[in-house]
Parts: sequence; C-alpha cells; structure tokens
Amino acid sequence: MNIDPFQLFNDWYAEELKQSKVRIPSACCISSIGLDGYPNARFVSLKEVKNNTFIITGPSKSRKGLEIEQSSKVSLTFWWETTEKQIRIQGDAIKISDTEAIRYFDQRGKDSKIISIISEQGAPIKNIDVLKQKYIETEIIYKNKDIAKPENWSGYAIQPIRIECMEFEKSRFHKRTLFQLEGKDWITSTLQP
Ligand SMILES: Cc1cc2nc3c(=O)[nH]c(=O)nc-3n(C[C@H](O)[C@H](O)[C@H](O)COP(=O)(O)O)c2cc1C
Repeated sequence: MNIDPFQLFNDWYAEELKQSKVRIPSACCISSIGLDGYPNARFVSLKEVKNNTFIITGPSKSRKGLEIEQSSKVSLTFWWETTEKQIRIQGDAIKISDTEAIRYFDQRGKDSKIISIISEQGAPIKNIDVLKQKYIETEIIYKNKDIAKPENWSGYAIQPIRIECMEFEKSRFHKRTLFQLEGKDWITSTLQP
C-alpha cells in the first residue's frame, strides 16, 4: 500500500494538536549548515504545510537566513510529546514570494510585528533597554496604523527529499518509516528501531 508522507504528517500533526496542551505545538527544530560548516539548529514555528512543502518564517538576514542563502540544505525535526511521535525531514529551503511573506506577516500579532521592525535579529546589542524604549515609541506611532512587512522578513518553503516518521513504542520497538523521494515517487522502507 502506498502511503503519502504528507497525509501521514497531517494526520499525526492534527492528532497532536487535538491532544496537546503545550503552548507552542508548532515548534520544530530547523538545522542549517553553518557558515563555518558546523550544523546550526534552533526552534521555529511551523506555519503550515502547503503544496507539499513545510513553511517557516522570520527575518531573512538572521543567521539562519544567511546560512540558507549559502546552502539550501536543511533539516526539520519534530517531537510530539503527547502522541510520542518524531518526524525528521531533510530537504531544500526555498525563499517564499513577497506576496506569500506579506500574507504570513499580516497574520502576526502587533507585538511580534513591532519586534520585527525594530529588532535586527541576531545582531549584538550593548543595552537591551534601548530596544525596549524603541518598542514603546514604535507602539505609540503605530497605535492606529497597520505595520507593513519589513523588507528583510520572509519565509522558506522546505521541499523535502526524505521524511522519516517514527512512532515511539514503550517496548523500544519504535516504528520507523522512511520515505525517500526518487524522481516523483516516494519510496517507503521500514527501519530497525
Ligand atoms: C518555540 C520557538 C519558536 C520560535 N519560532 C520562531 C520562528 O517562527 N521564526 C524565527 O525566526 N524564530 C523563531 N524562534 C527563535 C529562534 O529559535 C531563533 O532564536 C531565531 O530565529 C534566531 O536564529 P538564527 O540566529 O539562527 O537565525 C522560535 C524560538 C522558539 C523557542
């Protein structure tokens, strides 16, 4: 039987969302190839699965943005605590269109939008109070105004080439299913725990 890895992802994710009590169930770890060759990993929020890609967003001139600019090869890892499932994705991160980025930016809360326009993510700062003061001033300026997406804020569509879905088993016989893209087909295999 042919299993669609995206359908499986969506089914598992929906079940986790239904059962989970965690505040950010969309959290996943994206690893990119560091500028010095060391893998670099950090958590982000999965925005959605669209056209068989996994969408994440954020400042595009951040460390991860620069790393993805240098190499599109990334991995995305999920651990869903409530349903005890792990998903590992490897693929290429492709920058989304400006129109798409605006759509995601518009969905952000005002506080997040303000941070996006005042903070240069990852840049060193001597005194965080300066940024806090800037936040207060910006909040006043935009009290009755919409905040437009800054130029350096975007997102990536991660196009997978490999997806491994693991069901954690108390017996330790974890069920691991690997989907590998060969041409247009997803080839399925079962891996030992
Ligand atoms: C649960 C969680 C969700 C996060 N979501 C995002 C996100 O969607 N986008 C983002 O740019 N950073 C997000 N962050 C912050 C990142 O972990 C990281 O600090 C930031 O992106 C800077 O990473 P970089 O310097 O490697 O680019 C999140 C952090 C946590 C803990």
